[in-house]
Amino acid sequence: MIAIITGASSGLGAEFARQLDREHLSEIWLVARDTQALTAVSHSLKTPCRIISCDLSSESEIDTQIGSMLESTKPVVKYCVNNAGFGKIGPLHLLKSTDMTSMIDVNCRAVVQLTHMVIPHMKSGSCLIHTSSAASFVPLGGFAVYAATKAFVTSFSVAIQAELVDKGIHSIAVCPGPIETNFSKRAHQGSVRSDSVMKKKVDAEPVIRKAIRDAKKCKSLSLYGIKFNLMPIISKFIPRILMAQVSYNRVMKTEKR
Ligand SMILES: NC(=O)c1ccc[n+]([C@@H]2O[C@H](COP(=O)([O-])OP(=O)(O)OC[C@H]3O[C@@H](n4cnc5c(N)ncnc54)[C@H](OP(=O)(O)O)[C@@H]3O)[C@@H](O)[C@H]2O)c1
Repeated sequence: MIAIITGASSGLGAEFARQLDREHLSEIWLVARDTQALTAVSHSLKTPCRIISCDLSSESEIDTQIGSMLESTKPVVKYCVNNAGFGKIGPLHLLKSTDMTSMIDVNCRAVVQLTHMVIPHMKSGSCLIHTSSAASFVPLGGFAVYAATKAFVTSFSVAIQAELVDKGIHSIAVCPGPIETNFSKRAHQGSVRSDSVMKKKVDAEPVIRKAIRDAKKCKSLSLYGIKFNLMPIISKFIPRILMAQVSYNRVMKTEKR
């Protein structure tokens, strides 16, 4: 039985790899573009790893790099961690068009494509883990595309949880707040700083530990920290336009600094 982890070259993906290393799997497939970083992660694990170099923004690369490997080796997939993702901060008109489409491709399309691809290789007890975000519960002005992609991920994960119940396959959306990874560095866009909406970052280790525990308890969502546990409830009571406006003002304030 294997685990497939996308975005395993750094941050949360590398942490998932370290923690799933304890699960007595026959292999862990580590997927990302930076093969050097993937190799470094693989060297820190006891479980044998396959390094899969794949740009997840490309539908054809997912087919040739992951699809063909699944077809030729026919593994049982115990965990598929759809974790790779990124966000570019800033108002829509300042985003590069390639960043916008790539965010949608990596954060949404690749998740659906890989999920569709792995389900035939899963059996009862298998689990799909989707790294979504607390941003999936609120529209974020100044981070609009990213928050919308994560709303898609949470909705998709919960919906397929219902579809897969009869097969005994579970799906969970992990929806954390800011975590100490390369995410915020990659989110910077021109003069707009991601620190404006990404304050008080926590370590990845306890977030992922809770995510795996929640997956084993067959929860729909994994939330970490008091504030973010309340997020799905709070978001029902505060007008969405107000939340979007507050977020936009925070982003633009840092741009003017
Ligand atoms: N850190 C946070 O505050 C936070 C909070 C909530 C949710 N999240 C979510 O957590 C997930 C992991 O992010 P992170 O925080 O660990 O950030 P990170 O350290 O920047 O890691 C992002 C991972 O995604 C991979 N990736 C990005 N674009 C890719 C592409 N086109 N093809 C293949 N792989 C790609 C990167 O690998 P390569 O560059 O090697 O390809 C890297 O392994 C993301 O989905 C993010 O939205 C993060």
